[in-house]
Amino acid sequence: MAYKILVLKGDGIGAEVVGEALQVLKTIARRSAVDLDFKEGLVGGHAIDTFGTPLPDDVLKQAQESDAILLGAVGGPKWDNTKSDKRPEQALLGLRRGLGLFANLRPVKTLKELVPASPLRPEIINGVDIMVLRELTGGIYFGQPSERRETKSGREAVDTMYYTEQEMRRIIRFGFEVAQNRRKHLTSVDKANILATSRLWREIAGEVAADFKDVTWESQLVDSMAMHLIRRPRDFDVIVTENMFGDILTDEASVLAGSMGMLPSASLGEELNSAGFRVGMYEPIHGTAPDIAGRDEANPLAAILSAAMLLEHSLGMRTEAEQIVGAVEAILHEGYRTRDIQSAAAGAKLVGCKAMGRLVRERIESSDPDSR
Ligand code: IPM
Ligand code: MG
Repeated sequence: MAYKILVLKGDGIGAEVVGEALQVLKTIARRSAVDLDFKEGLVGGHAIDTFGTPLPDDVLKQAQESDAILLGAVGGPKWDNTKSDKRPEQALLGLRRGLGLFANLRPVKTLKELVPASPLRPEIINGVDIMVLRELTGGIYFGQPSERRETKSGREAVDTMYYTEQEMRRIIRFGFEVAQNRRKHLTSVDKANILATSRLWREIAGEVAADFKDVTWESQLVDSMAMHLIRRPRDFDVIVTENMFGDILTDEASVLAGSMGMLPSASLGEELNSAGFRVGMYEPIHGTAPDIAGRDEANPLAAILSAAMLLEHSLGMRTEAEQIVGAVEAILHEGYRTRDIQSAAAGAKLVGCKAMGRLVRERIESSDPDSR
């Protein structure tokens, strides 16, 4: 039986990086004789230009019928002035919500080869290995009202941070489960000194913790967490937090890994797909980088690592996922670098997006199939 994978390249460098990730998936599929049926759809700015909407109904429908989705990035200066509901970014929110993808997993690992690519000192970032779980379908991104108003005294605007107990509980529980399979430490991040949603969040975290006696846990306020994350990142294992805090902290955390171009993500729902695993959407955490789009300079590794997450989480192909990660690490070890992770390190070889993708595929091809 073929698994249905929907490929949504999006805008800017999205097409370039997903192009490479797709080739990697095809290589894996061929080698492990698994049947992957790829379909492509338009989302984001390109969909606005062609269909007048960032997320056409039939693309959402196709996504709902797929076993997994591989996405690039959406947005760009061309669409920056469009009204809020017509912005390319709405495609992402529509897909997340429309597929019920409440759990966003963002692993942040400092590979020793990339330590020089980070502006942070080696003794701070050596060996960092964090998994951030960001709640993805609630909070201020979706709460109502969210609007702009004209009043007698001028313009005003409102956004609403809203969470139900169930929404908080399922992501926090997921965080504890992930911690159980890692180093058994969980940090729950909130702003409980100010926000009512955060006070409930902290309360629920305490309730859920009672079911996970083997996991040590703590709560941190998001502002001091922003500081701890770059001062003592090695102290963290799993971090669980609400939607917007997770958005902000993961961009910050990318500095630990050397570049946004290295960070993959998985957005998982509760429903199971035809493979019996969670439905998921997989995308690099970086944006469309319009300044380098179309110049073969983008780093495809975040997209390629997202493809590895797709294999692991939505198809249960953990060995193949590890093979991709191994190939990426080997290529970096050999000194190949895209511009974003270039450093003064001796022996670094600057390559473009396509060459980086090809190197990873060649590495996979040349590995012994029996050692998979
Ligand atoms: C992310 C991005 C998105 C978000 C934008 C593009 C809507 O920043 O995935 O982190 O805010 O969630
Ligand atoms: Mg973000």
